[in-house]
Amino acid sequence: MNAPKVVVESLYKVFGNNPKQALDMLAAGATKDEIFARTGQVVGVQNVSFGVQEGEIFVLMGLSGSGKSTLIRLINRLVEPTSGKVIVDGRDIAAVKRSALTSLRRTDMSMVFQSFALMPQRTVLSNAAFGLEVAGVAKKEREKRALAVLEQVGLAAFAQKLPSELSGGMQQRVGLARALTVNPSLMIMDEAFSALDPLKRKEMQNVLLQLQKDQRRTIMFVSHDLEEALRIGNRIAIMEGGRLVQLGTPQEIISNPADDYVRAFFEGVDTSRYLTAADLMQTDAVPLVRHADTAAVTASLNGSADYAFVLDAERKIRGFVTREALHAATPAVAPRIAQVESISRAASLEHVVSRVVASARALPVVDDDGCYCGSVDRAAVLKVLTRSRGAHV
Ligand SMILES: Nc1ncnc2c1ncn2[C@@H]1O[C@H](COP(=O)(O)OP(=O)(O)OP(=O)(O)O)[C@@H](O)[C@H]1O
Ligand SMILES: [Mg+2]
Repeated sequence: MNAPKVVVESLYKVFGNNPKQALDMLAAGATKDEIFARTGQVVGVQNVSFGVQEGEIFVLMGLSGSGKSTLIRLINRLVEPTSGKVIVDGRDIAAVKRSALTSLRRTDMSMVFQSFALMPQRTVLSNAAFGLEVAGVAKKEREKRALAVLEQVGLAAFAQKLPSELSGGMQQRVGLARALTVNPSLMIMDEAFSALDPLKRKEMQNVLLQLQKDQRRTIMFVSHDLEEALRIGNRIAIMEGGRLVQLGTPQEIISNPADDYVRAFFEGVDTSRYLTAADLMQTDAVPLVRHADTAAVTASLNGSADYAFVLDAERKIRGFVTREALHAATPAVAPRIAQVESISRAASLEHVVSRVVASARALPVVDDDGCYCGSVDRAAVLKVLTRSRGAHV
């Protein structure tokens, strides 16, 4: 695996006049509340460590005041750490000179906030090109690049309009376009979609996911909405009182919430919707055979299994052979291989359910290259459905 894009190591931020004292108190076991009560200082972030992989959408979640904004501002040094390290592309951010910080933020780490503050007297195009303008890119070039990005977010036709002529959701897209136009290697988005109504918010999430398909960027995204986090996050970090309480893929967090604080986010959310075939599959439920000759099939079906999947040398699925087919076979005539449709690893639970209920046998789950990964059957689906329902009662 590549080196992580961002590494955070034992990061602390204390807001107050004697941060050293607060750190000592934390080390001695005092809580954030005790420190506030005794010294008036606020522990914004405490002892947080994690890595963000190149190309992933990393979502920070947590209740109001849990330290999400502070944490991402520590990454581009809008907030100075009290102690600990932030490393971006192998470079220690603390060592970057103040004079170089502005350009770093402008070009390498674009930040998108909840309110985009578009310039009302400028056209959509000019707003989208603003980052490049500040960076000194010539007009023709920057407008060309901004227009390409407006195209990606579906606003090319509105390039010459003023922001006031656009709906709120469209304005939000202009803000996103402005951040994208500088082609940052790291996008930092703090509650970027939170001010939007649910429909527009979903639309923006789709725009972001589509962009992410075309050109993988590293995105750190703050949200207090679990459904948003589950939809767009490759991994989710959950914060409480300045600490990182859990970090994992949506599926890991759904299947194994660290504590009641994490579980409380799931109230009223149908988490099973976010599971995929890969989460449901078993890897050793169905025997596999390479050569579908009578001897090999006999050997693979010598247990309780009634059928085996037949794979080729590249682990692509060729079909399945049943016990009946084996009975009809002879040492000279190989058992008949029947066709089977496979399910993609990324298939949604809904899709898996519709396919599995229509099939008497388990179905193979394959990766993007069509290689066999495992199998899903009715029992696996039922188990997940009852478990995730159980979690809500
Ligand atoms: N500049 C500041 N000065 C003093 N305290 C601060 C400052 N910024 C943040 N804090 C405190 O640090 C803690 C974390 O705040 P932060 O803004 O990071 O939370 P958040 O998770 O982003 O919350 P929200 O969801 O409301 O945006 C809070 O207790 C807050 O009061
Ligand atoms: Mg915040």
